Amino acid sequence: MKTMLVTGGAGFIGSNFIRYVLEKTGFPGRVVNLDKLTYAGNPENLEDIRRKYKSRYAFVKGDICDFRLLNGLFKKYSPETVVHFAAESHVDRSIFGPKDFIETNIHGTFALLETARSFWLSRIPDPRSSISYRFHHVSTDEVYGSLGKTGKFKETTPYDPRSPYSASKASSDHIARAYHHTYGLPVTISNCSNNYGPYHFPEKLIPLAILNALEGKPLPVYGDGLQVRDWLYVGDHCAAIWRILRKGRAGETYNVGGNCEKTNISVVKEICRALERLAPSAANPALKGRSYEDLITFVKDRAGHDRRYAIDFGKIKRGLGWSPSVTFARGLAETVRWYLGNAAWVGNVKTGAYRSWLKKNYD
Ligand code: NAD
Ligand code: DAU
Repeated sequence: MKTMLVTGGAGFIGSNFIRYVLEKTGFPGRVVNLDKLTYAGNPENLEDIRRKYKSRYAFVKGDICDFRLLNGLFKKYSPETVVHFAAESHVDRSIFGPKDFIETNIHGTFALLETARSFWLSRIPDPRSSISYRFHHVSTDEVYGSLGKTGKFKETTPYDPRSPYSASKASSDHIARAYHHTYGLPVTISNCSNNYGPYHFPEKLIPLAILNALEGKPLPVYGDGLQVRDWLYVGDHCAAIWRILRKGRAGETYNVGGNCEKTNISVVKEICRALERLAPSAANPALKGRSYEDLITFVKDRAGHDRRYAIDFGKIKRGLGWSPSVTFARGLAETVRWYLGNAAWVGNVKTGAYRSWLKKNYD
């Protein structure tokens, strides 16, 4: 049976991706999910998948920096595909404590690449054009820095990372690219804009705003709220990665975006409007007569806050036939509905109850 090793599969995008692969693509093989279960990793995201795909889904708790563990995994499962999501992903946390970002995002990516190299290269007849083996590295548009009022990031835009998070991701991209150019490892890279959707950890803007609003807490907007991000529904991102795995060429980088530039303040206001439709503030005792928009609170800006991101995804559109399919209005409504309908997941994440469940089941 073919095996796909997914790292960071207990996180937001990784868990959506594993669900997508097993439920929507017809992939006949096995998925091995390697995740350290940091504060952001939550195997509850895939509990139903674990029960449904007993022989085709395996979870391994472990650190991508651990060479011995990686060697053991490659020996045991012989994965032909690695899809590498595992990372420290939150910009604010990287500002307050960059160490884990350097360790996981740089050293961890290196350890994975090096392990894949030692297991694969002797087995692949023509690694540079291999379609049966693939190391896909999931990265971010933040490596390109910040834009002025116009222009979009292309794959050829020079790197200009400006936070410890984006600098660590930029480093890992360079190392991944070097493994292709130097050793012929069949690497592809995607640089994607801001994702949103189910299972998003509520430290990031969209889930934080939804859950704070429902509890009548302030909705913190950094600075003037006029920073621009491009938003992509997570299901569209999963489809893009799948397309790259199937049709993308080793050695190539693909930008992935949602064609959906919005200021942060407009995103927060749209969340408030979606909530008014789906869970009106008038019927929510936590709001005490206020509307959701009344909760918007401008707070101190993020240090070094990038002003604007925008993605030119023409290469993946023309070359591989991928475009985003979910509008922001639809994706946001689905996301709000998901948080409203998954009170147990929300409760566990917010109270840390999943941490004790983790301890019981995974330590
Ligand atoms: P996340 O923080 O939700 O999940 C990260 C996962 O990685 C967690 O399950 C965590 O336990 C695991 N992990 C962390 N350190 C590890 C280690 N040393 N060993 C093994 N597992 C470890 O992140 P996300 O938002 O799902 O992002 C996934 C990837 O996509 C990251 O590489 C991120 O840089 C990239 N990305 C994210 C976005 C976004 O909007 N969220 C956009 C573009 C790119
Ligand atoms: O662009 C892709 C990146 O998107 C990914 O590489 C990162 O892993 C992911 O976390 C995300 O980074 P951002 O910093 O853009 O996401 P975040 O949700 O933290 O913030 C989105 C914007 O909203 C950003 O301009 C900061 C602002 N913000 C964020 C929070 C948490 C606020 O105004 N208030 C908040 O409380």
